Amino acid sequence: MKNIVILISGGGSNMAAIVRAARQGHWEQRYGARVAAVISNRPDAGGLAFAREQRIATAVVDHKQFDSREAFDAELAAAIDRHQPGLVVLAGFMRILTPGFVARYQGRLINIHPSLLPAFPGLHTHRRALEAGCRVAGASVHQVTAELDFGPILEQAVVPVLPGDTEQSLAARVLTQEHRIYPRAIESLLRAGA
Ligand code: GAR
Repeated sequence: MKNIVILISGGGSNMAAIVRAARQGHWEQRYGARVAAVISNRPDAGGLAFAREQRIATAVVDHKQFDSREAFDAELAAAIDRHQPGLVVLAGFMRILTPGFVARYQGRLINIHPSLLPAFPGLHTHRRALEAGCRVAGASVHQVTAELDFGPILEQAVVPVLPGDTEQSLAARVLTQEHRIYPRAIESLLRAGA
């Protein structure tokens, strides 16, 4: 069984899209893959309730309980490794990971970022796209490397920036596309035998 472990920090709509795609696309029968656990660094992450409803194992590793990134990442890795992951999926996980953590999961760690990378790594992507006068925006799924929001791109989606767009309206348009490309990227990896 190929276990997928999903890390979240908030609402978890990408995580939910992946869970639904796994069920609807019969990932278990087709690829021997299942979403084994959802882990959050925030106890109040909205997505945890959805995961519990789906009877998916959940865990919280609260970054506020640790005084260094290394200590947090070590505990996070221990929580992940309990599920023997074939794939670790960052889905709105808002912590910068240490190089040691990234190296541990190299080749099986992916992320979604709400911009057309390599444009706008980091925070406030939609605000920065609007301020720059971009005519298009989007999202990228990529392999995670030690450099923040960098690494080989697996999928991208492009949306128009419309007159009168706000950060919120643009974010919502992009998020809809994230829900399409993230499951698609994962399924491609599974199909390729990842
Ligand atoms: C998504 O837009 C995701 O791309 C972004 O956070 C949101 C999480 O939404 N991730 C990042 O900004 C990572 N740097 P969700 O919790 O509803 O999936």
